[in-house]
Amino acid sequence: MLQQQLLDDLALANTHELVENVRIKYLGRKGLITNLAKETDFSKLSADEKKDFGQKLNELKNFATEKLQEAAERVAATATPVNKRLFDLTIPGSHRAFGAMHPISMVQLELEAIFEGMGFTVLDSPEADTEYSNFESLNVPADHPARDMQDTFWLTNGMVLRTHTSSNQVRALKRFGAPFRGIFPGRCFRYEAIDPSHENTFFQCEGLMVDENISVAHLIGVMKTLLGEVFKRDVKVRLRPGFFPFVEPGFELDLNCLFCEGSGCPTCKQSGWIELIPCGLVHPVVLEHGEIDAKRYSGFAFGLGLTRLAMMKYGIRDIRYFNSGDVRVLEQFAPVL
Ligand code: DAH
Repeated sequence: MLQQQLLDDLALANTHELVENVRIKYLGRKGLITNLAKETDFSKLSADEKKDFGQKLNELKNFATEKLQEAAERVAATATPVNKRLFDLTIPGSHRAFGAMHPISMVQLELEAIFEGMGFTVLDSPEADTEYSNFESLNVPADHPARDMQDTFWLTNGMVLRTHTSSNQVRALKRFGAPFRGIFPGRCFRYEAIDPSHENTFFQCEGLMVDENISVAHLIGVMKTLLGEVFKRDVKVRLRPGFFPFVEPGFELDLNCLFCEGSGCPTCKQSGWIELIPCGLVHPVVLEHGEIDAKRYSGFAFGLGLTRLAMMKYGIRDIRYFNSGDVRVLEQFAPVL
């Protein structure tokens, strides 16, 4: 009976694993054949009976071993050799890389959402622009020394690659009039030697708000809201005087160092403050270029260094990584799946 059961089981076993399962079922430590000896009370058997039992058990074991061996050979003969298989299961799977958002784009989208929440419009603007938009309309005439601050790429047709996103201020004012709230994020270019903190191609986000009675208090309020949202905490800022021809007064807005809370550390060069956003109240000359009544309206403007903000936010120490196209940098921003 046990023999027949074993043969039936083996008939169904068509892989090495299944044959091995049958072996364990019959000959394993708790197998059906193994158990026969364990379950028998030899003290109740006569010497002849013991001998007879031992003989039968051995025969059964030999039978099982033989049939298992046969089954193993049968399985081995029918299995397709590895090198003849249609599919080579040992080849590693193909790797599908996921695209990643560039860190600059991530910061830009975040800024856009924050400013939209404060009622600002997001405007696109040209990278190649006129000398008028980039300089003259911003109170920087041809012989003004401020032009030296921005070594410029001039195109052969007399246009420039914009040196800052401020180039869109007057265009936006002419088009939309006052009151106006908008930001213009985008790529800027300067003819600069490249090193870990200088690039000839970088991103800024210009902001402009014009309305009646706009004062420095509005500027500070908007900047604090912005930085609080970007860094996800309450921030302290301060204004220092700064000169830019298109604002009066002009400021450098410093952020209380987030790493040392102002006590001084290598990131803030021991000063406790990080210079972050140049800004000011829009110069009346700029408002007039934008066909805005400078007696009735005032405004503030700021030029946020998007690239710099991304470096701070993600702890990127070398500006050259951004334009390098090096996937080892970029793939660190891919979503973790
Ligand atoms: N456009 C200036 C630059 O790139 C930055 C700037 C300064 C923008 C003051 C402003 C501002 O709007 O008010 O260096």
